[in-house]
Amino acid sequence: MGHRSQVPLEQRPVWAEFQRSFHDWTGIRLAQSAASTAADLLHQRADALGEDVDSYVESLSRFDRLAERRLLIDALVVNTTWFMREEQGLMALADALTDIAKGLSEPRPLKVWCAGCSSGQEPYGLAILLEQAGVEAEIVATDISESVLKKARGAEYTEAEVRSMSRLVRSYAPKVPGGETYRMSDAIRSRVTFELHNLARPPHAPMKYRPLDAIVCRNLLIYFDRQLAVDIVDQFGAALNQDQGFVLLGAAEQPLVWLSKRLQPVLTYAGTLLRSRNYGRPIEMSRGVMRTGEFKAASPGQSRPTSPPRRRRKTREIPYLPARLSDVVAADDPPAPKPPRPKDRLFPVDVRQTMEAARRAHREGDQERGLELVDAVLARDRLIAEAHLLRGLMLKEQGRTKAATEALRNARFLSGDDAWMAPYQLGLVLEVTGDHPGAREAYRHAIVVIDAGGTSGMRDADFDDVAFAPTVAAACRARLASLKR
Ligand SMILES: C[S@@+](CC[C@H](N)C(=O)[O-])C[C@H]1O[C@@H](n2cnc3c(N)ncnc32)[C@H](O)[C@@H]1O
Repeated sequence: MGHRSQVPLEQRPVWAEFQRSFHDWTGIRLAQSAASTAADLLHQRADALGEDVDSYVESLSRFDRLAERRLLIDALVVNTTWFMREEQGLMALADALTDIAKGLSEPRPLKVWCAGCSSGQEPYGLAILLEQAGVEAEIVATDISESVLKKARGAEYTEAEVRSMSRLVRSYAPKVPGGETYRMSDAIRSRVTFELHNLARPPHAPMKYRPLDAIVCRNLLIYFDRQLAVDIVDQFGAALNQDQGFVLLGAAEQPLVWLSKRLQPVLTYAGTLLRSRNYGRPIEMSRGVMRTGEFKAASPGQSRPTSPPRRRRKTREIPYLPARLSDVVAADDPPAPKPPRPKDRLFPVDVRQTMEAARRAHREGDQERGLELVDAVLARDRLIAEAHLLRGLMLKEQGRTKAATEALRNARFLSGDDAWMAPYQLGLVLEVTGDHPGAREAYRHAIVVIDAGGTSGMRDADFDDVAFAPTVAAACRARLASLKR
């Protein structure tokens, strides 16, 4: 057994070295909150091999340490998933694929790639929706972790794991005779193949999967550096079949849409459905129809013209939103930020002044006015984290939890590990909605940011970050303790 230093591993340079290596292998920067779990594992592995932990970490880049690298990746990546997670996004995609299949002049199975599929619940769920819609599809599902892929291929799930499926969907996963588990039917299993693939390594979207009618990648890009995530999303755009397919991201990944050069949103509610910007130039959206002008929009199944697209005056209509989802989208979805009203004395928007006015309105309890102001700021620049944060706080005060969750997720994504108010408030809202795992994760994130000396993310002169931070850290710890019970 190797000799153990008195200083905990997570406070020594070897921890930073391991974080860097892990980031190189997976694209994921291990959070400080994962440090003690990772440190225990590293000690355990070093002890098992009879090495001291520093030499063990150093040895991990060696060719013959592939198995060790795989073991650490399997143990340390977050692979939480469940059947029909963010169901509306999956349903919107299934509807969009149904439209593509109907429009094919020569019927063929649609090709779908599900990246970061974890233990299979996501691709199997989509396969079930497509089976119900009568759409032929081949789904290739990939992940970096061999252990989750093994489970995915086995397609066997516990009672607790299938509980989130509706009764209809459960009929595709009958109970194993004489056992306690449920197994996906052969018909559904035959639609999905599983492969090992590291999304962080180029080519992010390998040629062998292309061209694709759809790509599903949810709750993975949030762990990557922002630029890598944007590059990957843009490569997804390039991998679509003749610019006609769809990309489905997770609800938390919505800010990536604003940064992508290749994709435009079709739907952003409990999932972010995108399609290529080349699909047609959107000029107007009304009652589930996106009008395109100028450029000829390719219709499903039509091959890409070899010459540059001819300019056209005539407009044509493309169904962009499945009718049965339009109501859902309208329900609690906040209206998209409106462009500034020309007559308002504050406009054209001076972002600094308008943010100041929004903070004041928020302090004075005039949430309607505050929301109008932050919306004007966001119409100018959607990447201002504090505007999303203020928006989230005001929506929360109005009791609009769904919209507040979305705004706070955006704020957290944009401020990353620099600001604690967004994850703290997100934790509070998620707790109210009953998403306790999500709330716990958000509280832990807030604590890590506070411990690392981060700011609140609010530029309010009346708000004392330094004085307030310990109170928030204590509140997060108390919430975590209470959620454990
Ligand atoms: C939080 S789970 C999300 C699973 C599923 N997409 C969902 O939304 O329920 C993230 C998955 O991404 C996988 N993953 C992490 N890094 C990856 C990488 N670099 N390439 C491919 N998959 C990765 C993890 O193993 C894990 O199964």
